[in-house]
Amino acid sequence: MFITFEGGEGCGKSTHSRLLKRYLEGKGLKVVLTHEPGATETGKKLRKILLMESQLISKYSELLLFAADRAEHVERVIRPSLKAGKIVISDRFIDSTAAYQTGGRRIPEKIVQYINRISSGGLVPDITFLLDIDPKTGIARGTRHTGKDKFESEDGGFHSRVRKMYLNIARRDPGRVKIVSSKLPITRVQEDIRRIIDEKLRH
Ligand code: TYD
Repeated sequence: MFITFEGGEGCGKSTHSRLLKRYLEGKGLKVVLTHEPGATETGKKLRKILLMESQLISKYSELLLFAADRAEHVERVIRPSLKAGKIVISDRFIDSTAAYQTGGRRIPEKIVQYINRISSGGLVPDITFLLDIDPKTGIARGTRHTGKDKFESEDGGFHSRVRKMYLNIARRDPGRVKIVSSKLPITRVQEDIRRIIDEKLRH
């Protein structure tokens, strides 16, 4: 099973993906937890270029570098793990590119969908959790301890467009994308996630 976590800044993806990993391991399942961008050697270099605020690159270079990171990730981490019978949980995947590069950067959706198909090799998650949060709350949460990266420094309009695009994706693909409100306490959010996963595992 391939599970992804999606959402805007500070939505709690990394916390919830870690908690879900522990939960599934508790059931005796083998789980690989991974993330984008930067899960491979090449990806780590791309991540630096992508997130450094001083690094001004065109929005198309940005799209293609995220795609390069994903192609490496799919080929070297995700596919081999799935083939070995493990559950893969990824913190961000194709929907991040749709939300940030189409929603945020306004690159036409058809182009992003096409690039997503190439970078993922057609791999689509079995289930995606969209942790939905108001961008203002998320940014305040997410940048409390560290400095802001390039995306966190974008204005409110950018982050509202990202959220809107995520919600659009979920509306269009309700079988795969489950919206979980990230406003609730961590334990409540995690309960919702576990309920959905247990249901999926039963099938
Ligand atoms: P990261 O530090 O991994 O933060 P987060 O906890 O928010 O995941 O930053 C990744 C940033 O890259 C995040 O702001 C979203 C952005 N991003 C895109 O714009 N497009 C993409 O395809 C991906 C994977 C990430």
